[in-house]
Amino acid sequence: MSMNFGILVGFMLFFMSIYLGATELISSKKSKGEVLVFPRKAMPKRYRRRNDEEVGQMKAGVISEKHVQQETKGVAGIQRQTAIFHWENVVYDIKIKKEQRRILDHVSGWVKPGTLTCLMGVSGAGKTTLLDVLASRVTMGVIDGEMLVDGRPRDDSFQRKTGYVQQQDLHLSTSTVRESLRFSALLRQPAKVPRQEKLDYVEEVIKLLEMEAYSNAVVGVLGEGLNVEQRKRLTIGVELVAKP
Ligand SMILES: Nc1ncnc2c1ncn2[C@@H]1O[C@H](COP(=O)(O)OP(=O)(O)OP(=O)(O)O)[C@@H](O)[C@H]1O
Ligand SMILES: [Mg+2]
Repeated sequence: MSMNFGILVGFMLFFMSIYLGATELISSKKSKGEVLVFPRKAMPKRYRRRNDEEVGQMKAGVISEKHVQQETKGVAGIQRQTAIFHWENVVYDIKIKKEQRRILDHVSGWVKPGTLTCLMGVSGAGKTTLLDVLASRVTMGVIDGEMLVDGRPRDDSFQRKTGYVQQQDLHLSTSTVRESLRFSALLRQPAKVPRQEKLDYVEEVIKLLEMEAYSNAVVGVLGEGLNVEQRKRLTIGVELVAKP
């Protein structure tokens, strides 16, 4: 009896030591982190080399002159905005379960062209609702009030002329960054613009948003593909290539 128990304990120690030894030796599956995925035909080698160069320069504290020049050139290619957008007494009512609710109550404001304007408020204050209403992206409810561009009521082309980047980054996970931008540019720029001009503009936007290093990378899903920042840049790019 006691001998059997001793054998059991022996077995246990034996297998435990094998298990512990194995966990030390066999390296676990590497965590994926943020990995850029390139299609086979795109050249990841060149990207890797360029990336190494960039890292080297950063270590040496050298800011590449070429890079800065490219950037300013890119900015010059983007249209300067001069139109003032302002809205007055915007009211947004919706009906929930036969009960009227006023989400926006006489909101007025304006944005100065060429500046970065920030809209702040506590959660639930109505920031997203206001922007959705101003961008004509709401599908339900009643909107009242004036929304003017340069003092004139907006026309039907307003939505085409403006870009609106929403909070979520929705992209086709199987296309590359450049493909996504080209798709948007070809479809959203007017038909009279030559195809080549649209494609050139895409390259300009890629430069402007500093997306050269991963312009051939597949969008992918989070964790395998673009990271959160790169995704946001692409979302902004998709709007920019439409020449809003
Ligand atoms: N379609 C809707 N149906 C019901 N309530 C709505 C609807 N749209 C907005 N609301 C309400 O309006 C209020 C403002 O919401 P909104 O999402 O605009 O806030 P927010 O300022 O963007 O908040 P956050 O900072 O959390 O994003 C919330 O109380 C929300 O419940
Ligand atoms: Mg919001």
